[in-house]
Amino acid sequence: MAPPPLQILESALSLLDHRVLVALCEAGVPEALTSRMTVMKLAESLQVDHDRLERLVRFGDARGWLRIDRRGLVRPNAVTAFLRSDHPGGWRSWVDFVAGEEIVKAVAALHCRGGGDGFAAANGAPFFEWMAGHPDRSSTFDDAMAAGARMHALSLDAAIDWDGAISLCDVGGGTGELARVLLDRHPDWRATTFDLPTVIARAVDHPRLEAVGGDAFVEMPPGFDVYLLVNVLHDWDDHSCVRLLTNTVAAASARSRVIVVDNNRTTMPRDDIATRTDVLMAALTNGGQERSTEQFVELGRRAGLYLVTTTPLVSGDFAHEFGVA
Ligand SMILES: C[S@@+](CC[C@H](N)C(=O)[O-])C[C@H]1O[C@@H](n2cnc3c(N)ncnc32)[C@H](O)[C@@H]1O
Repeated sequence: MAPPPLQILESALSLLDHRVLVALCEAGVPEALTSRMTVMKLAESLQVDHDRLERLVRFGDARGWLRIDRRGLVRPNAVTAFLRSDHPGGWRSWVDFVAGEEIVKAVAALHCRGGGDGFAAANGAPFFEWMAGHPDRSSTFDDAMAAGARMHALSLDAAIDWDGAISLCDVGGGTGELARVLLDRHPDWRATTFDLPTVIARAVDHPRLEAVGGDAFVEMPPGFDVYLLVNVLHDWDDHSCVRLLTNTVAAASARSRVIVVDNNRTTMPRDDIATRTDVLMAALTNGGQERSTEQFVELGRRAGLYLVTTTPLVSGDFAHEFGVA
């Protein structure tokens, strides 16, 4: 580990990580960097300043987003490929999402005093309300969620014993990408993605997927074998989570399974995604947070659910499976 002054400098200057990644993507570097080339050639093809690009490319090499070889040629690596806007994984949309002025403003307003809705204070409305009024940004957010959803679908499918389930409701399922991937792997299933109407208007097409718009705080589609809530509870405070789970129980049958997927808050903090998303939730929501298994068990108990099993997923999240008490 670096000496304390260097750790402080590295951390203080890490605000540049975000900006340089955004700047390289905005310039089109991942798309233009299809093979080994000089920075001069890259700069010419992008019509940007050679000296400035060289400095940002050096930064990108240090962060592992691309490589500069011993001859000084810049070349793409696996991360560069994932950053391309036409990569099927769709992860570029995460860069575009966090580059939004509303996100930058909310994160810049983060403080230690606690409480309140930092996103609403910075932007005039809570996150999902604001998104509903800004279709361009909302669709970028949906795309970022869809990238995660594809990963979650594959990791859930590898880890969960579906045990004869044939119908699935993905609550807060966005444009339905997670359901689509699962349907493609299970030809006898049918699924519903349930989300806000403005999001459902952009839902993907699939012959066995129904896209239903509504408000999960009011009611949910009834009678599914499995209810999924993937990265949904971490957006909300405890009281709201209990309401969401209570509404899930009201829609479920006695035999339904409720699977909650979120990053797990560990006893000791780690330098991992969960620690980052926990603070991101502090910046973007009003009481949203990553939670421990014990916290999920308590939320479930208050809603009439009992924990059946907890399964770590290769995505780094945990699946908490509940039964209806
Ligand atoms: C963090 S995203 C997670 C999306 C998706 N489950 C995933 O993991 O990619 C939370 C989702 O909850 C949806 N949502 C927010 N408020 C909602 C409400 N009141 N009723 C239904 N869905 C809602 C959002 O539109 C968004 O798609």
